[in-house]
Amino acid sequence: MSGASAGRAAVITGIGCHLPPDVVTNEDLTRRLDTSDEWIRSRTGIASRHMVAPGVATSDLAVEAGRRALESAGGGADAVVLATTTPDRPCPATAPDVADRLGLGTVAAFDVSAVCSGFLYGLATAAGFIASGTADRVLLIAADAFTTIIDPADRSTAVIFADGAGAVVLRAGDADEPGAVGRVVLGSDGGLNRLIQVPAGGSRQRSSGVAPAAGEEFFRMAGREVYRHAVERMTASSREAAEAAGWDGPAAADRFAAHQANARILATVADDLGIPLQRRLSNIEHVGNTGAASLAVLLAQSAAEGTLAAGHRLLLTAFGGGLAWGATALVWPDVKAG
Ligand code: ACO
Repeated sequence: MSGASAGRAAVITGIGCHLPPDVVTNEDLTRRLDTSDEWIRSRTGIASRHMVAPGVATSDLAVEAGRRALESAGGGADAVVLATTTPDRPCPATAPDVADRLGLGTVAAFDVSAVCSGFLYGLATAAGFIASGTADRVLLIAADAFTTIIDPADRSTAVIFADGAGAVVLRAGDADEPGAVGRVVLGSDGGLNRLIQVPAGGSRQRSSGVAPAAGEEFFRMAGREVYRHAVERMTASSREAAEAAGWDGPAAADRFAAHQANARILATVADDLGIPLQRRLSNIEHVGNTGAASLAVLLAQSAAEGTLAAGHRLLLTAFGGGLAWGATALVWPDVKAG
């Protein structure tokens, strides 16, 4: 392994994604929930989403996305970072299993927990591993089987969340190359953690000796309140990331990719930033909100379709539980999506 050197940076060199084959349409949801296709489309922008079949875990999605990213990069990795909110089990981390199944041997492997901002927190972590010389090539996977923590009877979340995985491979390179990861603007506000959480199943509830109340093992979100914070934080962090990259403001972006939380949130943020419609990447209509995987899947699909191409100045932002958020700006490299 080579040591850290001035100017050494992490550069994106491969990308891939995987969505589970089962599709759930809005019509399917109306058969078991008091909702409508019209409500879901107009309030969220979602028409259908992918969901894991019984017995399928986050690692299964992660392995497939990771395999595609490694193929796209044409090489291996000496560290695996997995961003997820839905690990296969509470202990141990899921990443070592994923690394083993990808044939990567005994490499460093661990999970990052930052809910829907997981990909950006993972990107900063992976870039730090490379900048310090801890690793030369990092496989960053963002994967969530988010529907496994959703209350199937809660119409306010069951219509939004979905499953999927996306991955990038980062190699050691120079800070001025296309694909180089610069500063990732990150933030959190734990004072508002109650707005998005799974109340039971952690040490707080388990040490109490009191069994969880019905439904407390499921994900809960105060949607209306979260909406406001999502707009505020994604807008501010995007501005900061554009400035850190030396751009002439966020409107200098050729492409804007935001965590696919809700089409209305994305439109508000992009409008505030002055980014025209044709520069906004979106897949929420048929992918929904896949948690940590959201940004990675969006980038992989956009690169495969050609809506994201080499040389594009790309602005990325995410927001979610924690609360936690982030943004970064980079130039998209010449990579073939796997
Ligand atoms: N179908 C029909 N009606 C519904 C549904 C549904 N699926 N869900 C909620 N409603 C009802 C509510 O009960 C409410 O009825 P009421 O007025 O009689 O009380 C009404 O619709 C409006 O509810 P709101 O919650 O105010 O609806 P809103 O327009 O805010 O949309 C949503 C809800 C989609 C959840 C939105 O608030 C949102 O997207 N919030 C932010 C999500 C986000 O950014 N999360 C962070 C990232 S995700 C993460 O971190 C894991």
